[in-house]
Amino acid sequence: MKARVLSGIQPTGSPHIGNYLGALKNWAKIQYDYESIYCIVDLHAITVYQDPAELRSRILELAGMLLAIGIDPKHSSLVVQSSIPEHAELAWMLTCVTPVGWLERMTQYKAKVEALATASSEASIGDGMLQYPVLMAADILLYQAGIVPVGDDQRQHLELARDIAQRFNSLYNKEIFVMPETHLPTVGARIMGLDDPEKKMSKSTAGAAHAVSLLDPPAAIRKKIMRATTDSNPAVDYATMGAGVKNLLAIHQAFTGWDDAAMKQHFEGMRYGDLKKTVAESVVAAIEPIQQRYAEINAEPGYVARVLQEGAERVRPLARDTVEKVKQCMGLFTP
Ligand code: TRP
Repeated sequence: MKARVLSGIQPTGSPHIGNYLGALKNWAKIQYDYESIYCIVDLHAITVYQDPAELRSRILELAGMLLAIGIDPKHSSLVVQSSIPEHAELAWMLTCVTPVGWLERMTQYKAKVEALATASSEASIGDGMLQYPVLMAADILLYQAGIVPVGDDQRQHLELARDIAQRFNSLYNKEIFVMPETHLPTVGARIMGLDDPEKKMSKSTAGAAHAVSLLDPPAAIRKKIMRATTDSNPAVDYATMGAGVKNLLAIHQAFTGWDDAAMKQHFEGMRYGDLKKTVAESVVAAIEPIQQRYAEINAEPGYVARVLQEGAERVRPLARDTVEKVKQCMGLFTP
């Protein structure tokens, strides 16, 4: 039996090359080695206000994009979190065994609260923001996933999921939950913002030249990369290069697969204008076939919706089974 993998991505903003190189490309690669479940986590997205029409279209856009980058619905279950009510159901049960102090200590929660406190809008800190990692634990534990590929920024949430599982098992004195393995991508680059190479490229960061979307037309890709922040040198110098130049090289290397020696031989001493042109062309060339598949996928009416429905039908019995076990275990009503 193959080990089960689960990962999730929020349907906010447009998926970009940082998502692709850092996570999604790896999802497509490992799907043949595991039984994989990939989850579009719309319930996580609404922990901050989302425009309803936009959220609805982002979910389908993201599903289409996951298929376009190579998630194969014959091998992987592609599901939308809110279409499987057991996610929210289990999350509540886990919430009741999770000490609130554990949640208040989460660094991502603290950062979000801080950011909202300084924002001038009437944006409020919903309870869901605190519960966010419990819902993530529910996603994982619902399917008894053994392996959870996530980036470094999700490591603390994954450890919390383990802590919650352990606490539940010991509180009810039963091995209900499989302990998920912390799994950090061995492959996959950490791509930084083009405008701010000290920060990870993010879907929710505004700014015209921050991220290259997987749906950007070639002209926009070229324009954004030509505008990327570099440093005060005129040309690539491996000994002294700053974060911006490093990031451009990382993007090129991740898309082309060149080894370090080939990279250095090609780029050392190259002027930044030429570096950017070269990188832009490698990005355009790599994204073009993805966009072509995306167009084909969307040209077939109802295809994406059907994939999502089949995915949900396949995994729902697993989710049902876990929730029934947990209800039994806790003494909840199970007619
Ligand atoms: N919180 C994750 C992120 O922002 C997304 C996520 C939700 C997730 N549920 C998950 C990742 C379960 C892995 C497993 O990246």
